[in-house]
Amino acid sequence: MSMVAGNWKMFEGPDPQALRTALGDLEHVVAPPYTRLAACVDAGLTTYAQSVHWEPEGAFTGEISVPMLQALGVHGAIVGHSERRQYFGETDTTVARRARAALDAGLNVIACVGETWEERESNDTETVLRIQVEAIRDACGEHERLVLAYEPVWAIGTGKTATPQTAEASHAFVKSLLDAPVLYGGSVKPENAEELLSQPSVDGALVGGASLDIESFVAICRTAASIRS
Ligand code: PGA
Repeated sequence: MSMVAGNWKMFEGPDPQALRTALGDLEHVVAPPYTRLAACVDAGLTTYAQSVHWEPEGAFTGEISVPMLQALGVHGAIVGHSERRQYFGETDTTVARRARAALDAGLNVIACVGETWEERESNDTETVLRIQVEAIRDACGEHERLVLAYEPVWAIGTGKTATPQTAEASHAFVKSLLDAPVLYGGSVKPENAEELLSQPSVDGALVGGASLDIESFVAICRTAASIRS
């Protein structure tokens, strides 16, 4: 498998119809802001939300539920992105609950893990990954609709990419804890996609900045398809 998912974060992102046309038959996932989910679904894009709550409804200001996403025709959700963990108090427990609820209700899930630069520098990468992955594993087990994303926090939006060797080592470690496809995320661009996606334990990419540009995103999806075939 080689999945390429575009995380638009809090950007309007490209025109969904134009992106759909440019992608043709290429496999893809897009995760736009909530206000653009319907337009992406309507354009025929494989569409994920950037997060999802574990309760079907309730007094949870600012959150969105699985049934609400399913009513729009959304196919899945990202959970535990490092920006949610860093800026919005997301914990291993809440990430696990979100993942579990989405999987139980039939959505696909991309659950994100990754270490900060300080953690890597102090040789804590494996400890941090183990805690994050085990929280997801204990809540969800192995699941055919569960994909993990290894995103070293220091590589996100910084232009710094993990070397293919670093990515491969972390992916292999993550897979030793939970048998699931693992996407790499952190400054993936058309120029570095091939060397990253060619690593045996790298099963795809979670792309932020480069997914906002139709040409770049399509180029990365095409690279993934060529490696797959
Ligand atoms: P980036 O973001 O590609 O802009 O580094 C990746 C992500 O946050 O998923």
